[in-house]
Amino acid sequence: MDGTYSVDKVTERAKRIHKKQIAWRRHLHQYPETANDEFQTTKFLRGEIKKLGLKVLPLKMKTGLLVELKGAKPGKTVAIRTDIDALPILEQSSVPFKSRRKGFMHACGHDMHMATVLGLASVLKQFKDELQGNVRFIFQPAEEHPPGGATPMIANGALKNVSMIFGLHVDPHLATGKIGVRGGITMASVIDFDLIIHGRGGHAARPQNAVDAIVIAAEVVESLQKIVSRETDPISPTAVTFGKIEGGTARNIIADTVVLTGTARTLSALDSRRLPKLIKRIADNICKAHGARAEMKIIARYPVLHNSSKTNRIFERNFRRLFGGGKVSETEQTLGGEDFACYLQKVPGAMVRLGVMNKSIGADKSWHSPHFIADEQALFFGTSLLTASVLDYLNS
Ligand code: NI
Repeated sequence: MDGTYSVDKVTERAKRIHKKQIAWRRHLHQYPETANDEFQTTKFLRGEIKKLGLKVLPLKMKTGLLVELKGAKPGKTVAIRTDIDALPILEQSSVPFKSRRKGFMHACGHDMHMATVLGLASVLKQFKDELQGNVRFIFQPAEEHPPGGATPMIANGALKNVSMIFGLHVDPHLATGKIGVRGGITMASVIDFDLIIHGRGGHAARPQNAVDAIVIAAEVVESLQKIVSRETDPISPTAVTFGKIEGGTARNIIADTVVLTGTARTLSALDSRRLPKLIKRIADNICKAHGARAEMKIIARYPVLHNSSKTNRIFERNFRRLFGGGKVSETEQTLGGEDFACYLQKVPGAMVRLGVMNKSIGADKSWHSPHFIADEQALFFGTSLLTASVLDYLNS
C-alpha cells in the first residue's frame, strides 16, 4: 500500500477494463452526435451504466446523464465530468472505426473522455467497499456549442453536495503516458456576441440618401481591434475576432443592415466584465457618428477557467505514485474556452490534460482536425489516474 490504495490493484483493474474501453470508444467514435443532439450517445451511456449496476440520477434535460456511486462508508462527494458531443466535421482519418455519420466526427476526443469515465465508473465500483464517500459522474452535452451544457447540468443538481470536481481533456501535443496540469487561470473567458449595424438602404450611386451599413461595419471591425491594443493591459492577453460578416444583397444596392458575428476572449476576470461594455461603447459611438444604430446581442458567456492547485497536486502526486516521476508537464495557457469553467466557479477542481500523442499511429494532429486520431493506450493512463485521485481525495 502506498497512501490510501494499492497501486497494483488500481493498475490491474484499469488494465482489465481496457479492452472494453476500446470497444466503447470505437462505438462512440462511429456514431458521433453534435451538441444537444446526443440522443443515441445518451442511450448508449445509460445502457452501459445500467449494466455496470450504477444509479442514474433524475435529470430534466434532453441529453446527458448524471450517475452516482455511493461508497460503503460516508464521506465527501467528488464529481468527474466528461463531455459527450462531437463536431460537424467530415472525418478524413483512415481508422477502421471511422465515423459512420457523414459530416460528423469526434474530432476533439470526447469519445475518449466518455470511454475513460465509463471505465472509471467500472473500476471504482470494484473499490466500493473501501470508498469513503460518493462519486458523481457527469456526462455533459454540448461542450462545443455555447452557451454549453454545463450551466443546465449545474441547474439540475450536478454539483449537489460536491466538494471537488475533476475534468479531463485529451491532448494530441502531449505523448501518451504523460499528463499536463496548470494552476490558476488556464483558459479564457469567452464572450460570443453579434453586432447588428442598422443603416438605411439605398441606390449605390446615391450614397447621400442612404446610411451605408457596410462602410460603418468596416470601421466598427477595425476600431474594435483597438480594444486589444489600447483598452486592456498589454500584459493580459485579449482577442477580439469576427469570424463572419453578413450584409447586403447586390452590387448596386447600399446595404441596410450588417451582422457581425464575433467572439472576445480574455484571461482576466476583470476584462471579462469590461469587454461587453467596451464593445458596445465603441460600436454605439461609431454608428452614432454616421447616423446608424448598433445593436448588441450576447450569445454566450463563459468565465475564465480557474484550476485549483490543490486538485493539481492530487493529480501530480497520484500519477507519480502510479507511473513514476518526470511525466507531468505544465499545460500552456490558451485563449480557448471551455464550459468546465462554469463548474469551477462553484466548486474547486481542475482539468487535467491526458497525453494521446503517438506519431507512429498518426496521433499527432490537432483538435478539430478532420485527421484527428487519439492513442487508445491513453485510456489506461486516464482511468488509472482518475481512480487513484478519487481514492486519494475521498479516503484521506
Ligand atoms: Ni473538447
